[in-house]
Amino acid sequence: MRQERVVVKRPHPVSASYNEHRTPNNELRWLVGGVNSPVRAFRHTGGSPVLLAASGGASVIDVQGRRYTDFIMGWGASILGHRPAVVCAALARTLRQTLLPGLTHPLEIELARRIGEAVPSVEQVRFTTSGTEACLTAVRLARGITRRAKILMFDGGYHGHGESLIGHHGAGTPGALAAETLRAPYNDLLAAKRIMARHGGELACIILEPVTANVGVIAPTAGYLRGLRDLASRDGALLIFDEVVTGFRLARGGAQALYGVTPDLTTFGKIIGGGLPIGALGGPRDLMRHLAPEGHVFHAGTFAGHPLAMAAGIATLDQLRARAPYGRLEQAGARLTRALAKAARAAGVPIQINRVGSMMTVFFTDRPVRNAADARATRREAFAQWAQTLRSHGILIPPSPFEALFLSTAHTAGELDRFVRVSSAAFQALRHTEGP
Ligand SMILES: Cc1ncc(COP(=O)(O)O)c(C=O)c1O
Repeated sequence: MRQERVVVKRPHPVSASYNEHRTPNNELRWLVGGVNSPVRAFRHTGGSPVLLAASGGASVIDVQGRRYTDFIMGWGASILGHRPAVVCAALARTLRQTLLPGLTHPLEIELARRIGEAVPSVEQVRFTTSGTEACLTAVRLARGITRRAKILMFDGGYHGHGESLIGHHGAGTPGALAAETLRAPYNDLLAAKRIMARHGGELACIILEPVTANVGVIAPTAGYLRGLRDLASRDGALLIFDEVVTGFRLARGGAQALYGVTPDLTTFGKIIGGGLPIGALGGPRDLMRHLAPEGHVFHAGTFAGHPLAMAAGIATLDQLRARAPYGRLEQAGARLTRALAKAARAAGVPIQINRVGSMMTVFFTDRPVRNAADARATRREAFAQWAQTLRSHGILIPPSPFEALFLSTAHTAGELDRFVRVSSAAFQALRHTEGP
């Protein structure tokens, strides 16, 4: 490996807000917290929000012209890297024909067909403009079909910010509605069984990320998804897999193909929009037909099925089918995991790397991380110091210990090696700051 001097600076204090790191003209004051989505504020790792001006391949460039190798990758959306040529060409082609037709465009059918062909549990699709909207619509559909009110979700799961799904971020959600949402620890089938024994007959749905991304990456333990499938079927609740992150990332057929468990409804987002705003829900026709205009469960959207998002999604899914990158992404992920684990061992810094395919989280702990409570018990200061060292050496990872880092087909072996080298220096520095 090429040698490089990696300087580890004193870390910024964690919880520093944008006010402490003003841009010269304090332009960030125009945005609440300096951002439009909380995690972009870097409050978990310290440091100011990064203002990005440009992106391409595996790189992003900030407004000062600094280049970073990016592992945020549009929070999982950019599996082909930033601004892939096939997507840009499809967008240009579409823009020559239309922008917002306002009625159904053939591209909507084309993308729906591609999703259905890749994911056998999906016979019909409804497009939305975000993953949030897809998940809240899926829950509404489940409630409309079953005529039940309660839902079961899992601690640490994130399904967007619909009222019933918002979890501990719930200020502003009426108590009566919040009371209809039950929560269980992830990967604990007994806990789910206990809740179902008490409330099974009142449950409209069980909704979960089959592999979590929003409390860091956690894979389901053996038999867990199958167990939830059986519980839902037994009590007449719908099983919803939120595959906003995992759809077309872990396999063309998503986590349900990887683990061989079929949900009733699936939500999608991110990758299926090829970098444009999107969400979707899908399932068998006998469930989907309950949505308006065929059924009584309402959903509508001015921008639903936007042709630019459809075109970008089609280009992305076609590229994923043609290039079949999942084996290569798995190999790159496995190699990266081994190298990082070795570097941490050499430095005497205990870490756990949770990885499924091209999504991974490094937890600073010596214990396995199997649920949200385990994730919350990890050493966040160590994570923050690692993230800051990476950032100061031109590498961006999600600025939170509770997020997934994403590989794309655009990352080169050289970029992954450099990530390991800088991480290795950060781990060594952690040993020195913390002592034996
Ligand atoms: C698993 C999961 N579901 C739903 C959402 C919400 O999607 P969006 O941000 O497009 O509203 C996210 C966003 O990160 C997510 O990770």
